[in-house]
Amino acid sequence: MIFQTETLGEHMAAAVSGLDLGQDIDDETQDALRRVLNDSLVLCIRDQHLAPVAFRDAMARFGTPMLRKQLERTPECAEVNIISSEDRDTLGDGRRLVNGANWHTDDSFMRAPASLTMLYGVVVPSQGGDTQFTNMYAAYDDLPDETRRKIDGLQVVHKYHSRRQITDVSTRPPEEMAAMPAATHPLVRTHPETGRKALYLNPNRMDHVVGLDAAQSDRLFDALIEHATQPKYQYRHKWRKGDVVIWDNRCTMHKANADYPDGERRLMHRVIVAGTEPV
Ligand code: SIN
Repeated sequence: MIFQTETLGEHMAAAVSGLDLGQDIDDETQDALRRVLNDSLVLCIRDQHLAPVAFRDAMARFGTPMLRKQLERTPECAEVNIISSEDRDTLGDGRRLVNGANWHTDDSFMRAPASLTMLYGVVVPSQGGDTQFTNMYAAYDDLPDETRRKIDGLQVVHKYHSRRQITDVSTRPPEEMAAMPAATHPLVRTHPETGRKALYLNPNRMDHVVGLDAAQSDRLFDALIEHATQPKYQYRHKWRKGDVVIWDNRCTMHKANADYPDGERRLMHRVIVAGTEPV
């Protein structure tokens, strides 16, 4: 199967067209998509028309879809979550929730966080609502040698409710919280497929560096976050209806923008696929 590839950002992100994910995709095409994703970190597949089960099945070619209770699910398919302009904290105080409004990588509070996340633009606003990405390979590669030597080998404790939490996260029932104990991950991780090193930061979930106190941890986290989120490392995705955007949580961070006009809807379907313990 042949598809067309277009570069989107200056140093990351590519768009592919001419593919219907609702049809069978042969192994050669799937391998080619994987190569584009590994090279580009963010892969957009244009012009899709996918019901939830078809979306889940297409994403299952990239890995094992996981159930996520923290977000609402589609009635048709439990592995497809809903991210919507109508999201509210239904177990808490009912406030409006903008999922992922600050820089983050998905699920670093888990022992084996999601490798990839897929978002499908079902309803997109007329303007705004972009998703921003930042390239954590480039951010790591650009650090001074001395900083890299200092941080290679450090371990960070991540929590669902971390000491540094900046984003509203949904209130979860106690039994679910008990199943999400703190997880410890390297501050610099090696991508299992590309072998490249990336900074592994998650501003909302990082609690402290093992062996450093809170103030020392904060100084290091703040400096690295400021460095990694500079505009020169970013790509900003402007959604078109029917885009399926796949990103690699092992070498990127991302953030949502709720800046679309009042009264306009934004509806995304989301699948995340299983990852391995970061090393
Ligand atoms: C997310 O952080 O998973 C959602 C991103 C978005 O809605 O743009």
